[in-house]
Amino acid sequence: MKNGKKKILISGGLGFVGKHLTCYLLEQGHELTLVDNLSGSDCDTNRIEALRQKCRVFVMNFLDFKSTETFDEVYHLASPVGAIGILKSSGRISKEIVDLAVKASEIALENNAKLMYISSSEVYYASEVQEEESNILLTIHQGARIEYAMGKYAGEISVRNFGLHQGLKYNICRPFNLIGKDQSSKLGFVVPRFIESCRQNTSLEVFHDGQQVRSFCHIDDFLEGLVSLQNSELVGETINLGNIKNKTTILELAYLIIELTGSTAAISFVNPSLKYGKLYMEGGEKIANTKKANSLLGYEPKIELREAIQKIIS
Ligand SMILES: NC(=O)c1ccc[n+]([C@@H]2O[C@H](COP(=O)([O-])OP(=O)(O)OC[C@H]3O[C@@H](n4cnc5c(N)ncnc54)[C@H](O)[C@@H]3O)[C@@H](O)[C@H]2O)c1
Repeated sequence: MKNGKKKILISGGLGFVGKHLTCYLLEQGHELTLVDNLSGSDCDTNRIEALRQKCRVFVMNFLDFKSTETFDEVYHLASPVGAIGILKSSGRISKEIVDLAVKASEIALENNAKLMYISSSEVYYASEVQEEESNILLTIHQGARIEYAMGKYAGEISVRNFGLHQGLKYNICRPFNLIGKDQSSKLGFVVPRFIESCRQNTSLEVFHDGQQVRSFCHIDDFLEGLVSLQNSELVGETINLGNIKNKTTILELAYLIIELTGSTAAISFVNPSLKYGKLYMEGGEKIANTKKANSLLGYEPKIELREAIQKIIS
C-alpha cells in the first residue's frame, strides 16, 4: 500500500455489485484488478475497453486466474447469482460457489491480503431468526435456491476454517436484496424485471399472490457498509447488510413501480414453476436485521424505497 492507495482484487467485478464497487473504489484512488467470466454480466466490449483505461480487467474464469501482481485486499463477488440465473448451473451450484471461495481464500493467503467474502441472506432460507450468531436451519425443500444457499453457507465455513487453520484475515458479509441501476433483469431480480415491464408496457408478472416479504437496500447504502467493514480493524466477523426500513411485499412493490414510472402496464399473477420448471424456488421471508452492523460500524442505511426506485428509473 502506498499513500493509503491499496491494490485491490475484485472477483465478479463486471457484475451488478462489482460495477458499483469498482466506481466507488476508483473514486477513492485505489488500484483495481477485476476478474469476471461474463457468465452473469451484461458488460459489452465497449464497456470493458472503457474500464481498461482505469483498471486491469481479466475476462476469464476466476478459478483459472493467476497473477504476478500483489494485492492488499480481495473482494470476492464471483458466484452463480439470481433465482433464474442459477438454474442453468443446477447440480453444480454449491460446488462452484465453494470452489470459488477456496480460490479467493488461497489468493488472499498468498498475498497476506484481507478477504471480503460476499455470502447471502439466502443462508437464512428456513430460519425465522435472521441474526448473524443464530443457528442456520436446514430444510427438506429441494431446488436450485437451496443449493445456492447451502453453497454460500459452505463457502462461509470454508473461509472461516482457512482463518482458523492458516490465519486468513477475512470478514463475511450477508447482503439482503440489493437494488440499483445496472442490475440485470435476466437473472431474476424483481426490481429490474418490473421496471422493464413498465417501460415496455407489458404486464408485471407477480409470482404466486405477491405476498412475499422483502426488504430492499439501495446499492449506495450497501457499499458504505461493505467498504467500512473492509476498512475496519474487524477480522473474522459475519455481518448482515440491508435495509429493514424498506420492508415491502412484492405486490406493493409492483404498484409502487407502476406509479413511479407512470406506466399503464397491468399486473398478472403467475406460477413461476410453470414458467421456469421444478427447480425454481421462491425465497423465504427476508427481514434485514442489521443491529450488529449498526453497533460495530455505525451502519445506518438512508435511502428509502421510493427514493431508491426513483434513482434507478431516473
Ligand atoms: N444482488 C443481490 O441482491 C445479492 C444478494 C445477496 C448476495 N449477493 C452476492 O453478491 C455477489 C455479487 O452479486 P451481483 O448481484 O453483483 O451478481 P452478478 O451476477 O451481477 O455478479 C456476479 C459476477 O460474477 C461473475 N462470475 C460468476 N462466476 C464466475 C467465475 N467462475 N469466474 C469469474 N467470474 C464469475 C459473473 O459473470 C457476474 O458478473 C454474489 O456473490 C452474490 O451471491 C447479491
